[in-house]
Amino acid sequence: RPRVLSGIQPTAGSFHLGNYLGALRQWVTLQDTHDAFYCVVDLHAITVEQDPKTLRQNTRVSAAQLLALGIDPDHATLFVQSHVPEHAQLSWVLQCLTGFGEAGRMTQFKDKSARQEAQVGVGLFTYPILQAADILLYQAHHVPVGEDQRQHLELTRDLAQRFNSRYGRTFRLPEAYIPKDTAKIYDLQDPTSKMSKSVPSGVVELLEDPKRAAKKIRSAVTDTGREITYDPAAKAGVSNLLVIYSALTGRTVDDLVAAYEGKGYGDLKKDLGEVFTEFVTPVQDRVRQYLADPAELDKVLARGAERARDVAGRTLARVYDRVGFLPAR
Ligand code: TYM
Repeated sequence: RPRVLSGIQPTAGSFHLGNYLGALRQWVTLQDTHDAFYCVVDLHAITVEQDPKTLRQNTRVSAAQLLALGIDPDHATLFVQSHVPEHAQLSWVLQCLTGFGEAGRMTQFKDKSARQEAQVGVGLFTYPILQAADILLYQAHHVPVGEDQRQHLELTRDLAQRFNSRYGRTFRLPEAYIPKDTAKIYDLQDPTSKMSKSVPSGVVELLEDPKRAAKKIRSAVTDTGREITYDPAAKAGVSNLLVIYSALTGRTVDDLVAAYEGKGYGDLKKDLGEVFTEFVTPVQDRVRQYLADPAELDKVLARGAERARDVAGRTLARVYDRVGFLPAR
């Protein structure tokens, strides 16, 4: 079976609708057709300052959400990045192959470092190289992510190719697996920028009170027109709501447009609030259940880490050998 690998940061505790529709939903379906590796990337999280207690708790909360959303630890390998030291080890090797200018061209680094008031750490700069290590260690064929990760995937392929041509074929060149309709979910208050925890005004969180989420949806920014049509250029807000609605219900956007003919934005928003509530309520219940037994949760993650290390260790051993490190024996 082809391999997939993907990761998500535990930084915020709760995932948001963009994470779910852009990536996590695909994680769940791909575990049936692929040999899947999914990790909570706590090493990436510390590229910006984290409170240690909160980070530890958010890592568990993240794992609980992945399970609650349908990741089945018997079908997919679910693990925490820091449990598999090979990620940091391969990252070092790849850093030595990365150009300074090449890393500096990453738009996410430019955005994040521009937004950050505190001193920008070197880890934020090398972040995409660690991401490349995550992917290449598992020889992944596909990497299910949202649109914002496309450039990091390109870097990953470049580094893999560079390593392969310098040292002999070692890594598979992975492909981004980006959904067509939900690759970029927009902020409800600013439907021209992506939904993101770093600009939290119009973010719908999976773990927030559904009543509050429904209220956010009702007060989503829309244009001054009346007609419900899909037109991302002229009607960014309404179009974003239609995409979310469609993804959560399985109804096509065309079908929704037809169904809402003659109705107003208020009707659409109110109904979408209900659709979201219906989707998220059982997810929240399951998250609570998983978190009620942290020892069991940790056991699931320990099993995942063991399986992950098995694969990652083999790749790293080949890399160390190819690079010319003297074996330790
Ligand atoms: P992160 O934690 O920011 O986001 C997790 C996933 O959610 C997607 N996403 C979105 N998709 C659509 N619309 C949005 N508004 C939206 N916001 C976020 C992201 O594209 C991502 O797929 N660098 C990665 C984590 C990572 C990783 C990896 C991913 C580390 N190692 C290896 C893949 C493979 C990140 O920060 O994602």
